[in-house]
Amino acid sequence: MEKQFWTSSELHNLFLLNEKISRQTLLNAEERGEIPKAERVPRGKIQVRQWKLEQIPEIGARFGFLKKPKKQKVVCVYTPKGGVLKTTYSYNFARMLALNGLKTLIIGLDIQCSVTNYALPRPKFESLEEFESLKKQNLRRLGLYHYLFEKASLDDVIQHTTLPTLDIIPETPDLNVLEKKLRLEPRREYLFKDKLISELSDYDVIIFDNSPSWNQLVECALTASKTIISPIGCDIETYEALETNLSIVFEFQDVMKLEWDNFFLIPTLLEKTNLSQQIYGVYVNSYGNKIVPIPIRRSVKGQEARVLYLSVIEYEPKSTLAQDYYELIRDLWSKILGETTNGA
Ligand SMILES: Nc1ncnc2c1ncn2[C@@H]1O[C@H](COP(=O)(O)OP(=O)(O)OP(=O)(O)O)[C@@H](O)[C@H]1O
Ligand SMILES: [Mg+2]
Repeated sequence: MEKQFWTSSELHNLFLLNEKISRQTLLNAEERGEIPKAERVPRGKIQVRQWKLEQIPEIGARFGFLKKPKKQKVVCVYTPKGGVLKTTYSYNFARMLALNGLKTLIIGLDIQCSVTNYALPRPKFESLEEFESLKKQNLRRLGLYHYLFEKASLDDVIQHTTLPTLDIIPETPDLNVLEKKLRLEPRREYLFKDKLISELSDYDVIIFDNSPSWNQLVECALTASKTIISPIGCDIETYEALETNLSIVFEFQDVMKLEWDNFFLIPTLLEKTNLSQQIYGVYVNSYGNKIVPIPIRRSVKGQEARVLYLSVIEYEPKSTLAQDYYELIRDLWSKILGETTNGA
């Protein structure tokens, strides 16, 4: 179950407020009506203020650490290597933006339903019949294919999450059909840019999570985005394949003449071993201004947060893994907003 209530000291931790304001500031803001009213819950002789999960984005908009962009940002998370935290990173990034009050949409493009399973808790079933009936409902769910080719509306395909500022276009079984259909479409690479992004202007940020294998959906997502984020594992397999993998992406950029604002390599799964540390060192030395030198460490907290459908910073804001995410996302976001520079 997701965490439902938050006290003022928990919000202080979540939004890193100890760095800048006193505990009283939040309570005063509540009394002045600048942030939503908390519930008063008796605890012993005192009353404790508690905010509901859905109220947090409004508090984040006032006291958070990520600023609303002036212009919509479209981000594609992709690397042709499997298991390097693409989905985990997409979800954590999206949720951190949403907690800060930014209206965020995740678009899941992996037929394995990775980010969908992360963002939308799966309904529970108690018998095989119930399971079969849920499976049938799922097969009938409308998705991107129905929106792009069969006149389904965006309302039919966008789903809401537990945060009012975070929506998702989930992965549905029709993604396979869409991928095949795209192969025959003229100007197919521009489909998301022309027919999807153009209709989603209400969102401050749109994030595509992709499958590792190169396909038409990846091409559409890379063409529709201005910021590309490539997580790269600090392990020998990722290291050996990296140059080939990057050349696939850059050749596509070249052929399509895509002008991205940013291209970031994010080192992930860093371990304390010599090998992992050395690989990280080589990445930093070899990829200059493309690399963001704030690695995400290997930690079981990543999976623990996922089981609860939470971002790592909600699950354990004081953990070392949460510190990685805070530092990385704050740095990346300021680069995406153009406050600090990065080589595209
Ligand atoms: N910090 C972490 N350390 C170790 N494992 C983690 C961490 N964070 C998440 N994980 C787990 O690592 C696994 C791979 O992560 P994820 O699914 O995000 O990778 P991916 O790049 O999206 O994979 P795919 O290429 O299959 O789409 C998942 O089981 C995830 O829960
Ligand atoms: Mg994935």
